Amino acid sequence: MSSRKLDEARQHTLESAVRDAHVLVTTGAGGVGKTTTAAALGVAAARQGRRALVLTIDPARRLAQAMGIDELTDLPSRVELETPAEGELWAMMLDMQTTFDRLIDRHATSAKNARDIKSNRIYRTLSSTLSGTQEYMAMERLHELHDAGEWDVLVVDTPPTRSALDFLDAPTRMTSFLEGRLLRLLLKPGVLAGRGVGRMVGAGATAFIRVAGRVTGMELLQDLADFFRDFEGMYEGFKERADQVLALLRDPDSRFVVVTSPEPPPLREARFFLERLEQEGLHAAGVVVNRVQPEVPRDPSASSLNRAVEGLSQSDDAADQAAAGTLRLLADIRNLASRQRRDVGSSLYGLGIPALVDVPLLGGDVHDLDGLDTIAWTLTTGRER
Ligand SMILES: Nc1ncnc2c1ncn2[C@@H]1O[C@H](COP(=O)(O)OP(=O)(O)OP(=O)(O)O)[C@@H](O)[C@H]1O
Ligand SMILES: [Mg+2]
Repeated sequence: MSSRKLDEARQHTLESAVRDAHVLVTTGAGGVGKTTTAAALGVAAARQGRRALVLTIDPARRLAQAMGIDELTDLPSRVELETPAEGELWAMMLDMQTTFDRLIDRHATSAKNARDIKSNRIYRTLSSTLSGTQEYMAMERLHELHDAGEWDVLVVDTPPTRSALDFLDAPTRMTSFLEGRLLRLLLKPGVLAGRGVGRMVGAGATAFIRVAGRVTGMELLQDLADFFRDFEGMYEGFKERADQVLALLRDPDSRFVVVTSPEPPPLREARFFLERLEQEGLHAAGVVVNRVQPEVPRDPSASSLNRAVEGLSQSDDAADQAAAGTLRLLADIRNLASRQRRDVGSSLYGLGIPALVDVPLLGGDVHDLDGLDTIAWTLTTGRER
């Protein structure tokens, strides 16, 4: 019954999502092909006559070069496909710092307030290292571009996170950080200040920090105090924006493409992610199983293949030995293909997935527009090109 659900999902591709969605987000475990899939979805949308913008994060250098976005400009640039598309493909690389700075400019209470924050060391560190910041900034930039209304579809890549789930928590994490929960944690005795200083930080903390400014490490604490003081007036604006970002993601025209490889750990992550999407009322476009071993012909049957290998390997003839080796390889590839299919089946068992597309493992890395076109074709037709 439930495996029928997956068989049914296999009948569908991402074609309708590529045609209708306004926002597509690729997500999945590290290294599975999120960036590649995002770029290929952009190509597919342009091929369908849409004006598509791909927001990539940290693409492989050669792919970035092929798309003409190897320089960090934070601005969309037009990508010319080898065979022209009916629509347009645009791409840009996300620059976290620029996006974060712009966000500060927008929400700061005054120009001085914005300047103070941007020169604060805590801010400089936070904006590049706080877990979830990249994800949040990707969403923030997405919102900004969506508001601009210049593209039919925005395809968003997500950063390599520890867990794909991190990304859904990013807006909430950002606001709770600004609410000061992390600050309270940092100021717990011993965590940051060391030797009893932390215990004195609380009411009147700022005054204390000023006095203790000569103590090593205190400048840091001062920066931290300044940071939270400067941020105070911006909290509401940030929270409102985070809510808007979540609302945009919840829109039925925003859809998540969950990317996985056919191995159990990323498949488990894909399953968690799909379950989480459902709980959160977010919409899945489908699952892409990337780098799948293409199926090999069913003939000869496994048993006759084994018999042939056995027979040939007993021969002294070098050609027979070589043939035995080749047939053994064929058997291995066949086993791998069926194991992958079984793992996909058991990991995604029982889930209602709108579409499930296998993308074959290609001969080399996907670093040119032709490679993207090949994947785009498979994503929308379900077939190999
Ligand atoms: N179907 C495929 N066949 C062969 N190589 C592929 C395929 N899909 C992706 N690759 C290659 O795998 C590598 C990882 O892909 P990609 O950068 O898209 O993964 P990612 O999920 O974005 O990784 P990260 O989590 O680090 O951001 C790249 O070198 C890419 O060219
Ligand atoms: Mg990537």
